[in-house]
Formats: sequence, structure tokens, C-alpha cells
Amino acid sequence: MTDKKRYRYKTLAGDIEKKILNGTYLIGEKLPSIRELQVKLNLSINTIYRAFIELEKTGLIETRPKSGYYVKPIPILSRNFPPRGTGKKQPQKIDSTFISNEVQLAMSNPHYLPLGTAALSPELMPVKEIIQLVKRITFRGIQSIFSYTLPEGEPELRRLLALRTVGILEKVQPENFIITNGCTEALILALKAVVKPGDTVAIEAPTFYGILKVLKDMGIDIVEVPTDPVTGVYVEKLEQTVTNKNPKACLFMSNFHNPLGSLMPDDNKEQVVRLLNHYEIPLIEDDIYSSLYHGKERPKPLKFWDKKDLVLSCSSFSKTLAPGLRVGWILTGDRFKNRLIELKRESSIATSYLDQYIMIEILKSGSYERHLRHLRRCTRNQLQNVAQAIHDCFPREVRLAIPEGGFILWVQLPEGVDSVELYYKALERQISILPGTICSSTDQFRDYVRISCGHPVSSEILSGIKVVGDLIRDLRR
Ligand SMILES: Cc1ncc(COP(=O)(O)O)c(C=O)c1O
Repeated sequence: MTDKKRYRYKTLAGDIEKKILNGTYLIGEKLPSIRELQVKLNLSINTIYRAFIELEKTGLIETRPKSGYYVKPIPILSRNFPPRGTGKKQPQKIDSTFISNEVQLAMSNPHYLPLGTAALSPELMPVKEIIQLVKRITFRGIQSIFSYTLPEGEPELRRLLALRTVGILEKVQPENFIITNGCTEALILALKAVVKPGDTVAIEAPTFYGILKVLKDMGIDIVEVPTDPVTGVYVEKLEQTVTNKNPKACLFMSNFHNPLGSLMPDDNKEQVVRLLNHYEIPLIEDDIYSSLYHGKERPKPLKFWDKKDLVLSCSSFSKTLAPGLRVGWILTGDRFKNRLIELKRESSIATSYLDQYIMIEILKSGSYERHLRHLRRCTRNQLQNVAQAIHDCFPREVRLAIPEGGFILWVQLPEGVDSVELYYKALERQISILPGTICSSTDQFRDYVRISCGHPVSSEILSGIKVVGDLIRDLRR
């Protein structure tokens, strides 16, 4: 065989190998047939055959008689997360962007026990009802995907969102909503509308780690305002920050904060909005968890107290229905509306019509409100059961407060226990948790972890919590 031919089959085998190892080809997926590849790549049958033999020898693929070549299972742990040496201390200084990316990767790995992700289990979702709705999509419903849709979103979806504010925000109309790709795009557009690179934005400490990365990438400086784990941002500290640091905007979560779970009392909310209205400072509100209240009524958004049209309220259906649908929104008055629509058009033209259509059908069917009632009961029980398991299995010095909504617990570890070290140890046991350190630009939350209670409490979850408790004891010694 000539060198050139050997090179060809090795190149092909190498290419397929890379695509198997990086997950492009899925485990169990059928590879294209020798004939298909021959036509597509203009290679000889022999070259392709040799490439497949090579891959078979390395154990990456297998032949199934009369069917073809298939990708073989490979241990997930060695693909994405090389095991780390046990008992080895992590270096003192950590790169929180690196850890944050790694944590996100671990959280999306279905093979890990999901104590880290702030997402609800599909078990809790009205899957059958959604399948029925999707099956009923008509030609009229689908025809809009063949043209560009409005940047501000489908009028019917905006109308339905406006209806959901009845009894809470009386002046709100459909025109006040701009539909976005999830809450993330809502927050990004809101930020772009009110600040520019080099400006300072005041945020809570700790905060949602995702927004820290966004702010960093946008070249925005941050100032962290001390925040109470139960009642949210300290108003007097905010006042000092406003006068001393001159922030151009604030970004707060008053209802079931991520990661704290805190709920700001109405008086505090009013004081915060009055203060920021007074200084003419725009306030971006991340209100993504407010529908998951466990008390009698939905807590008011900060927008309720806004007299100067300076509050931009951002949310989505990601925490209550389906993060995969990517339907979120900004609730705004006239002040920033046109700018936001312009930014939305520049960012992604419009939000996927199909996603909006599915949401319209779900909201119209009435099943969403029913589903929310069910979800509130489930998330309350889950929070209580996980908190009880933590109480039973973690060392006594651990501190936490059970939030009045949402499904996240913010847990303070015993003194000296490093959440990053705990995170790595838990990962080795295939458990994902979120180290508190990534929720701030400083190292002040290194002894905290965020535990998500998004799944019904199973024996697997209880054993996982026990393992984490044992790991904390080991690290304390
Ligand atoms: C507080 C908060 N804001 C925003 C998001 C992102 O939401 P979405 O998936 O709708 O973009 C999350 C998701 O974890 C979150 O917890």
C-alpha cells in the first residue's frame, strides 16, 4: 500500500475517533455506511473499511451483523471529567471563570446526581399535555415560521403575559412586553439598554453566577452590595454604594434569590425602588423565580413601586416549565422600550416563533396555572425534605435557611471547609453541587455551597446527600 493510501484511512479513522470522543457521535449511534462514505468522500471502499477496522481495534465502534457499525459505550467520566487525585488539596488561588465553566459542564452531565443545577426535573413537568398540544399544531399555526417574526414577540403571547399581571401590576399592557430568548437574553438586552462598557453596575453579593460572566464579557465593572440571606439586599448599604460608587444601574433579584433563596420584604422593596428612582438609576430586576412562591400569594416585583419607568423586569419560563423552549421577556415602560426592541432585532432578529407558539398554546389551555400549583407544592416539599436530609447527614455546624419559594438551598459549611475542594470530591463520586465561590467576584463565599432541590427526593438523592455530608466531615479533619 502506498503512503498516501495509508494516510487516507488513518485520517478518516482519526476524524471519526475525535467526533466520538468529543461526543459529536453519540453512544449507540450508527455510523454512515461504507457505501455512503464512499460516495460522499470519494474514497475507495477499502480505505473506508480499513478506517472502520482501525476504530474497531481501539474499541470505539462495533459491527452489528447485517446492520452496520455503531459507536460503543465509553465511560462518561473519562470523557469529560478526568478523575482527579484524591486527597490532593486544590491550589489556594482559584480561577473562578474556569471553575464556573467546569461547574456548568458538570451540571449538564446527565450521569451526575443533580444537586448543582437550578433546573426542575422533567418528572415534574406536564409532558403528556405538551405532547398533545404539539400534536395539534395546525398549518395556520406553523406557517409563520416561513417568514421573519416581530422582534418584540408574538402579539398573542404578549397579551397572555399581560393577563398574568392582573391584580399585580395594573397599568401593564401587552405592548410593555418584549419577548426574548430566555431570561439570559432579557438581562443582556436590559443591561445594553442602560449601561456601556466601563460603567459600574451594583449587584447583590452573592449573585447568580451566570450574570457575573455576562457583566465581565460586556466590560462592565461591578460593585457588590452586602445582602442578607433571608431579606435580601441591605438598603442602607445600597444607599452608601449609590453615593460612593456611582453605579449606572443595579441588577437585583428580590424574589427567591439565586443562590440565597431570600425574599425581600415589601417595605425593603419599596425603599430600594424609591432610592434608585430618586437618583434616576435604572434597576434591572431578575424575577425568574417569583411564580414558585410557597406562601399564599405571588410576591410583588420591584416594578410595582416604580414611579419613573426605570425598572426593567426580566423573566422566563425556564424555571417553571422548559428551559429548552427559550422563551423569556422584559417588562418595560416607554422609556427604554424602543431601544430594547432595536437591541433585540440586532441580537437575534426575533425569538423562535415555534417556541412562542408552543407557549401560547400552553398558556391558552389553562394547564400552565394548574401546573404551577402542582409545582409549588412539589418544590416546597422537596426543599423541606432536602433540608431535613442535610440536617440529618451534614455536620451540626452547617447553617441554612429554608426559603419561602424557589428550590435552592444556600448552605454554609463548617469553618475551614473549602467549597471548591468539596465540589471536586463530590464530582469524583458523580455528584454535582455548586461551590459558592463562583457566585461572587471575591472569595467571600468559599465556605458556601448551593444545593438544588429541583428533583423529587429519591433514595439516590438521599444517599448523595449522605455522601456529601461524609465528604464535609473528611475535609473538616
Ligand atoms: C437567577 C437566574 N436568572 C437567569 C437565569 C437564566 O434563565 P434562562 O434559562 O431563561 O436564560 C437563571 C438560570 O439558572 C437564573 O437562575
